[in-house]
Amino acid sequence: MAGNNRDIIILGIESSCDDTSAAVIRNNLILSNEVSGQTVHIAYGGVVPELASRAHQQNIIPVVDLAIKKSGISIDEISAVAFTRGPGLLGSLLVGTSFAKGFALAKKIPLIEVNHLQGHVLAHFVKEQSVEKKMPGFPFLCLLVSGGNSQIIIVRDHLDMEVIGQTIDDAAGEAFDKCAKVIGLPYPGGPLIDKLAKEGDPKAFKFAKPKLPGLDYSFSGLKTSFLYFIRDRMAENPDFIEENKADICASLQYTIIEVLMTKVKRAAKETGIRTIAVAGGVSANSGLRQALLNAAEKYNWEMHIPAFKFTTDNAAMIAITGYYKYLKGEFASQDAVPYSRVSLK
Ligand code: KG4
Repeated sequence: MAGNNRDIIILGIESSCDDTSAAVIRNNLILSNEVSGQTVHIAYGGVVPELASRAHQQNIIPVVDLAIKKSGISIDEISAVAFTRGPGLLGSLLVGTSFAKGFALAKKIPLIEVNHLQGHVLAHFVKEQSVEKKMPGFPFLCLLVSGGNSQIIIVRDHLDMEVIGQTIDDAAGEAFDKCAKVIGLPYPGGPLIDKLAKEGDPKAFKFAKPKLPGLDYSFSGLKTSFLYFIRDRMAENPDFIEENKADICASLQYTIIEVLMTKVKRAAKETGIRTIAVAGGVSANSGLRQALLNAAEKYNWEMHIPAFKFTTDNAAMIAITGYYKYLKGEFASQDAVPYSRVSLK
């Protein structure tokens, strides 16, 4: 598709955890979005940081090359390169950051640093060719649930966000993955629990729910309650997991969703905001999607649920954030170093 010389073309780079991704967007329209996952971690039951950064080093050039080729643009048309500066695994972030800096220097184009969490939220603004999509109007509330974060955010503008609730310990994705590990499921367990839960009874077993005031989350108590429950039942019946796998998954998923939904409903009530969005890896969960849609109907919310490909880590969300920062002239310097921990505000 032909562009014009006022178009802004951003190359986005994402390498915060175990996915190496590169994307090209023209203004807010996605031209390509390549993601290369890393299977090396499966044997360890979780992401091994050193292995992740080595895999990023192997993947980054082929992934960027493919993203540029598939976008149909020439490398000289790229206006700026946006990269995930954090939060994430430091070694992984270093690979994307170093690549982006080198690319910007070589092509003499601006460098844009992106907060990974802001990227997840702004994934809602990525436009796809021939896909009709209503974007959320401001202000809206975003439930951001991933392997590393669980937050409720007020989004006042593309680059104006405020966290009004967040986890004080584990993230929702961690609760899914760690509990999955307890019952012998491979990493990442979230999608497998989702699949098994479809065949089970969500009310079969009860697990502890946190009693935290305000809008903050906590998942560590649930994780411990799950661990002790499985340990006690296995002591009585060594086949307990095998005989009840679907019910265990359905009940665990139900509890996590209940915890998430309670605070989303409270946030909507307290702020009076009825445009609600969800983002991050856990937003791929079918039970959570259904619970949000049910609540939307009951409370008259306008609900925004992203396409599956924009829920987990991807560079399209980094490129779109880069686009909005480009419009505001927010550029990074070659001194920018990655950060492993950072909140939105
Ligand atoms: O956003 P993401 O790809 O990475 C982070 O930035 O953390 O999220 C990964 C998390 C993992 O914990 C994974 O188990 C979870 O998202 N996840 C799911 C589902 N798909 C991915 N959790 C529950 N149900 C799913 N369908």
